Amino acid sequence: MKVHPIHAAPLAALVLAGAWLLRGASAQEERRKSVEKLLAEMEKLRGSRYNVAREEGRFLNMLVKMTGSRRALELGTSNGYSAIWLGLALEEIGGRLTTVEISPERAAEARENLAKAGLADRVRVIEGDAHKVARELEGPFDFIFIDADMGNDLDYFNVLMPKLSPGGVMLRHNAIRYASTMRDFLEAVKRHPELDTVILSVTMDDGFSLSRRRKAP
Ligand SMILES: C[S@@+](CC[C@H](N)C(=O)[O-])C[C@H]1O[C@@H](n2cnc3c(N)ncnc32)[C@H](O)[C@@H]1O
Repeated sequence: MKVHPIHAAPLAALVLAGAWLLRGASAQEERRKSVEKLLAEMEKLRGSRYNVAREEGRFLNMLVKMTGSRRALELGTSNGYSAIWLGLALEEIGGRLTTVEISPERAAEARENLAKAGLADRVRVIEGDAHKVARELEGPFDFIFIDADMGNDLDYFNVLMPKLSPGGVMLRHNAIRYASTMRDFLEAVKRHPELDTVILSVTMDDGFSLSRRRKAP
């Protein structure tokens, strides 16, 4: 069959667009597989890096997307496992994460893992003491995830509560297993008049305190 030149041009454009779309889809699939492989590798080190469980990572990822949080802060990066879950959600909605880690070795490991996940430009790893860094960060933040040293959480609350945006959420990991260690923090988030707080578990093992700052009426 002979194709008239007037019809050949749109046909060629259609074929090219189809090929371009297919290439995009397969690149996306490649990325998904490589991130999945990276997370699985990191999970083998969970015991020594004190990472959240996979279900908790997925929960954090979902929560960022459900709340539409764009300005996120994490205290306690370790090797970047939870930061990857958060970063992937922020990539979807066009947000950014700042994460703070006191150990130079872990901060370096986190930067390496985040680069492998293609999130180097979306997640800023700050090496330093989160008690000091939290005071210096400007805010506001829509999403604050506290997973650093336990027992000093009330200081994090006092410094970060003024930087939590209306409608923003603040989470503390280990709020079930280590509830007694962070009793003053848990009391503060439960009592604060602008916060709605629940304690929840997605693993039936340990869990989070989850607080949302009410929007002004
Ligand atoms: C439970 S791990 C964080 C796990 C990480 N959120 C994850 O799930 O992948 C706690 C981390 O907090 C760090 N850390 C402890 N005290 C800190 C502080 N004052 N400032 C910043 N990081 C701190 C520790 O070095 C450790 O890597």
